[in-house]
Amino acid sequence: MKNLISMRDLSKDEILNLMDIAGKIETGKIIPDLQRKLAALLFFEPSTRTMFSFDTAMKRMNGDTIIMSGTKNTSAKKGETFADTLQTIAQYSDIIIMRSPIEGAARYASEVVDVPVVNAGDGANQHPTQALLDLYSIIKTQGTLENLKIGLAGDLRFGRTVHSLAQAMALFNVEFKFFSPSFLQMPQYIKDDLSTKNIKFEELKDIEGNIDDLDILYVTRIQKERFASPEDYEKVKGSYILNKSMLDGVKTNMKVMHPLPRVDEIATDVDDTEYAYYFPQAKNGVFTRQAIISILLGEV
Ligand code: CP
Repeated sequence: MKNLISMRDLSKDEILNLMDIAGKIETGKIIPDLQRKLAALLFFEPSTRTMFSFDTAMKRMNGDTIIMSGTKNTSAKKGETFADTLQTIAQYSDIIIMRSPIEGAARYASEVVDVPVVNAGDGANQHPTQALLDLYSIIKTQGTLENLKIGLAGDLRFGRTVHSLAQAMALFNVEFKFFSPSFLQMPQYIKDDLSTKNIKFEELKDIEGNIDDLDILYVTRIQKERFASPEDYEKVKGSYILNKSMLDGVKTNMKVMHPLPRVDEIATDVDDTEYAYYFPQAKNGVFTRQAIISILLGEV
């Protein structure tokens, strides 16, 4: 693993190895030491969890970070090209972790620089480190990644987290239920990918009454920033909201996950139930990202 750009770049064995290392980091069986290693966090889009959990991950391993949050105070404003910015930052850092609104930006970056590149989200395309922390969260709560029934709900069209997660879980023998308004259905290329791998999926409009057989219900925000017109967003805004009463009758092992941030798609009355797992899920991002960085830097 030289870079981490897409879940499609990872084999099942590589994923399981990464999960194992993340688990050993969490329990203290592996303590990576990244003294004198520096990660450049280049975020061309806003972030709370991804940016701060990568920052935390580096600092927990005695490493350090330089952070670019938007281009406002950089020489990009003077006309410097993206490629020149990347090549310059690569002179200072051991690894580049990058988020961009442009699909394919991280792949491009990995072709321009010699240091490892991690895709921290590229437009509506991929968010592989989120998928890996999601898998880690699923193993922690279900004890396995195999033979699970997983519901993906919300903006399946523009939500990069669900694209990466669906592709990752397709390596395991899972079944999916996709819940979304028709305008926000899972892209055809992902559905084709699943069909090729004989992964069963069902497309539904309503969550209510359809979640009693699920092991995981993964809810996502409608990605307002990716809509071409505000009118289209208004048509689907608030079109589904999970609340506590809808969880009556779900399996006892069922967990509600969400990559966060949420807007209104999970009512706060779900937070205190035994099913809510989205904040521990965010915490798992630190162990998973420690594992990702350590592997890419050859430290484990
Ligand atoms: N899950 C996630 O990517 O959150 P942020 O946008 O806050 O990084």
